[in-house]
Amino acid sequence: MNAQPSRAARKDEHVDLALAQPVRANEFDDVDFVHHALGATDVASVELETDLGEFAWPVPFYINGMTGGTEKTGAINRALAVGAAEIGVPMACGSVSVALDDPRAAESFTVIRKENPRGFVMANIGVGRSADDAKRAVELLEADALQVHINAVQEIVMPEGEREFSNWEKSLEEIATGAGVPVIVKEVGFGLSAPTLELLAGLGIKIADVGGRGGTDFAQIENSRRRFGEFSYLAGFGQSAPACLLDAGAGLALLASGGVRSAFDAVKSLALGARAAGVASQFLRAAMVGEDAVVLELRTWKEQIRSLMALLGARSVDELAATDVVVRGDLAEWCRARGID
Ligand code: FNR
Repeated sequence: MNAQPSRAARKDEHVDLALAQPVRANEFDDVDFVHHALGATDVASVELETDLGEFAWPVPFYINGMTGGTEKTGAINRALAVGAAEIGVPMACGSVSVALDDPRAAESFTVIRKENPRGFVMANIGVGRSADDAKRAVELLEADALQVHINAVQEIVMPEGEREFSNWEKSLEEIATGAGVPVIVKEVGFGLSAPTLELLAGLGIKIADVGGRGGTDFAQIENSRRRFGEFSYLAGFGQSAPACLLDAGAGLALLASGGVRSAFDAVKSLALGARAAGVASQFLRAAMVGEDAVVLELRTWKEQIRSLMALLGARSVDELAATDVVVRGDLAEWCRARGID
């Protein structure tokens, strides 16, 4: 069953507009590995499990929060959940707010738990909602964790977007203490700076997804929903996931997403210190084909990550974080400008 038409239409539009964006070159291309010809380890000795402090995942990548709220997006969630269950990949849903406000939209989210009763499932809401809403979102999916997205750029460009941001820190603090499950704060494609990560730590957040630029661009998506496209200059705004990882201090368990196009990009994220890599649009493309395509895609990523780790001589995510990398191009220039060695 669908939610109220305008909001539902937005969910379907987001999917169509995200799929229309080309897969682009991005700053993951500026991260190179130093190849050591005698450095590889046995594929069978590679352990994919990753520890995020509050919980552990069987694989170091996950299906990032995207959608729900309509019949079409319910079918996408179903296909993704079937793949997640089959291959054992953690999965988030899109913002549950639409279902909290209109129960007719609930089924397009609960299908995720129905198809994946034992897997790691994350609910998702926007910052600014109450701790009570956070709890309801978690309960709806019987979720193991809650993603809270912070998306000021998207809201500003979105014609019907939020215009008040000063309560966001308070909201995050309340959600972190009241959600009842571990909270993961994420950006939606503009990046989390080092000072933002420090602020989050001070608010009691333990896990953050840096959600950088270089993949799905929500400034561009929302701008194309405006009558005159007034914000076209904000396309490409923010920092990439590799830039955020290089900038970040210690303290939080970090996840990397935004522009993760392949298992190779995922492995680069891990080498730069992420505990796992989040993938949205690449898995959305598979979901549009159907559940078998999702299963194949997730299995391929899992096996390729294992192979690449063996090639790099890393038997674990921890060992991969100690791999030799070289940073070039725009990313190196960004690091220089920020005073990062
Ligand atoms: C998203 N994303 C997103 N994030 C979030 O926290 N809540 C949401 O409701 C949505 N909705 C959404 C819809 C669609 C169609 C897409 C493709 C994405 C953002 C997503 O989690 C991720 O941060 C960005 O898409 C960047 O990752 P990719 O697409 O470059 O892998």
